[in-house]
Amino acid sequence: MIYKNLIKPFLFMMEPETAHSFTIISQSVLSSLRLNKIIKLFFNYSEPLLETEVFGIKFNNPVGLPAGCDKDGKALDIWGSYGFGFATIGSVVYSPQPGNPKPRLFRLIDERSLQVNLGLNSKGALSFYEIFKKKKKRSTIPLGISIARTTDIDESEVVDDYLKSFKTLYELPDYFEINVSCPNINNICFFNLNMLPKLLEKIQENNYKKKPILIKIGPDLEELELDVIVKNVLDYNIDGVVATNLIKDLTKINPKKVYKGGISGKLLEKYSNKTINYLYKKSEGRFKIVGLGGIFNGKDAYEKIKLGASLVQVYTGMVFEGPGLIKKILKELVMLLKKDGLDLNKACGIYHK
Ligand SMILES: Cc1cc2nc3c(=O)[nH]c(=O)nc-3n(C[C@H](O)[C@H](O)[C@H](O)COP(=O)(O)O)c2cc1C
Repeated sequence: MIYKNLIKPFLFMMEPETAHSFTIISQSVLSSLRLNKIIKLFFNYSEPLLETEVFGIKFNNPVGLPAGCDKDGKALDIWGSYGFGFATIGSVVYSPQPGNPKPRLFRLIDERSLQVNLGLNSKGALSFYEIFKKKKKRSTIPLGISIARTTDIDESEVVDDYLKSFKTLYELPDYFEINVSCPNINNICFFNLNMLPKLLEKIQENNYKKKPILIKIGPDLEELELDVIVKNVLDYNIDGVVATNLIKDLTKINPKKVYKGGISGKLLEKYSNKTINYLYKKSEGRFKIVGLGGIFNGKDAYEKIKLGASLVQVYTGMVFEGPGLIKKILKELVMLLKKDGLDLNKACGIYHK
């Protein structure tokens, strides 16, 4: 209620990227004032039915914060207090870069979606390392790092660029997300799928502690391209796929007003669900799926789990509904699981069984 009546109108009066920066800075201040425990009292929700173990990591619940919200890790120690079961920080690229010119973030209010044209603004892997290392000790949940490529480099340097970030940051996270799907880099092919085998081979060669590795893909891939993803994930023992990033092909979704960039939220949901469904079916559940795109309540999260996701992530839903959404999703999820007499493992991919 406080969020909807007070905080949201205040934030929505601001230009979207300003509102986002304000939110991250205030979260960072709240955590430096050691207010995490108080926040936790209001927002946390624990229930044994939600506990799960995926790729060797124990999670208190399956609802995480995705890449893109806390790009530089400034507030990485607070997300557990808001009830998230895990958080992916980043995407970070190796060389610092400013991203695209502003304005580059837009609200599609009626469609409960965001349009994003940030262009991978990042402080770069070396600064990111310092922030993450300092703050990580106080996080209460598993943390992942999403790495992407520096944009202003030649295609021949791309694999090496990912690898430099991977090596620089290797000791820090519980898992890595390799982002091969940024939809708002203009004038270049962000990631050519032909590079995937070499990239995954190099990543695994340097993964000497066998940390879980996930790759994050977009919802615009055709089935043949998804088949390439499935094959490579299995060939290189990748632990899972994060599905999906923002939708790029706007002809499919026809938003009322078109700004620039990829689209999240409700307009994306159908396409991310389709991707999750295909990945699970094609792989016969042989790797894990982290599902996201348009989750606004427990039923949306449950749908992704039944399609094949072991974990889910929520971003746009939280922008529109506030941080209390996480507790609401968790409670609804418990209700739905109990109603069907299932636990998370049994519910995962049940549509295919
Ligand atoms: C403002 C914004 C920035 C994002 N930046 C990233 C990013 O840096 N890396 C990434 O993998 N995904 C990024 N994403 C995509 C989200 O992680 C997520 O895949 C997408 O928003 C769909 O989930 P949602 O509908 O719950 O928002 C971003 C999304 C938004 C809205």
